[in-house]
Amino acid sequence: MTLPGPSARTALRTAVLDWYEGHARDLPWRHPETSAWGVLVSEVMLQQTPVARVEPRWREWIARWPTPADLAAAPTAEVLRAWDRLGYPRRALRLRAAARAIVTEHAGVVPEDEQTLRTLPGIGHYTAAAVAAFAYGRRAVVLDTNVRRVLARAVRGEALPPPSQRRSEGELAESLLPDDGATAARFSVAVMELGALVCTARSPGCQECPLLRRCAWLAAGRPEDAHAGRRRTQAWHGTDRQARGRVMAALREQDQLGTAELADLWPEAGQRERILAALVADGLAAVQTDADGVPLAYRLPVDEPH
Ligand code: ADE
Repeated sequence: MTLPGPSARTALRTAVLDWYEGHARDLPWRHPETSAWGVLVSEVMLQQTPVARVEPRWREWIARWPTPADLAAAPTAEVLRAWDRLGYPRRALRLRAAARAIVTEHAGVVPEDEQTLRTLPGIGHYTAAAVAAFAYGRRAVVLDTNVRRVLARAVRGEALPPPSQRRSEGELAESLLPDDGATAARFSVAVMELGALVCTARSPGCQECPLLRRCAWLAAGRPEDAHAGRRRTQAWHGTDRQARGRVMAALREQDQLGTAELADLWPEAGQRERILAALVADGLAAVQTDADGVPLAYRLPVDEPH
């Protein structure tokens, strides 16, 4: 794919940055006084959970564990209870593992450059780029699903980006990024916001879009998703993910759950046993057994005193 030329790049940047100026949501992790740690926590929470659910939990986390050292010292059960219903609770434990590495290897200070950030447990390309950009104003390619969709439409003329990320998407995003770090970071969050508020997956508001006159997808008559056949749809009802969520919610609320209570909670025995074993293996639950090793009850993990 040929990349947009200099004048098209400038026009796109200006249109998106001007739009952001008037339409950005006032989200607490975007405030200039928010610490790099606050930004890191927000990015991990926001990866698989919508803003509206993240915001109250983020405020509680930052009030309770305002620095990496505070979270590093927190007991597992407290961390999992504070994660509440954000989903994918392994993220909470990975965040604490990252906090511990920040304390032991970086003197308690969140690293500034992407490469160092990526050495932290659970911090991948996306999160490292987002923290470098949004916490430190560094020039980094921040590609999340919203950014990928906006660029797929506006530049490539496609309804949705391919199911898995391609190198050319990174190259395109890089070519559009302003040279100056702070402006690049603002442009990235602006594109993200455009994807979240206007250029949405299901009902894009093209009439309100600042790229209305330059969007390749709109110009092509909004063709359908060319990758539809290869997309995984995420079912929920009856899945392991639903079962895990229900069991974790009960474990957060009660000191312990006996096997009879668990059978009421999730009657399908084979699936129940499988997800319980997985929760224990993931460090999200602890099992108490009888002398023969038969499970009696489950609870949130209890930390060994050290
Ligand atoms: N602002 C900065 N990063 C964000 C994200 N991942 N989602 C929503 N708003 C953000």
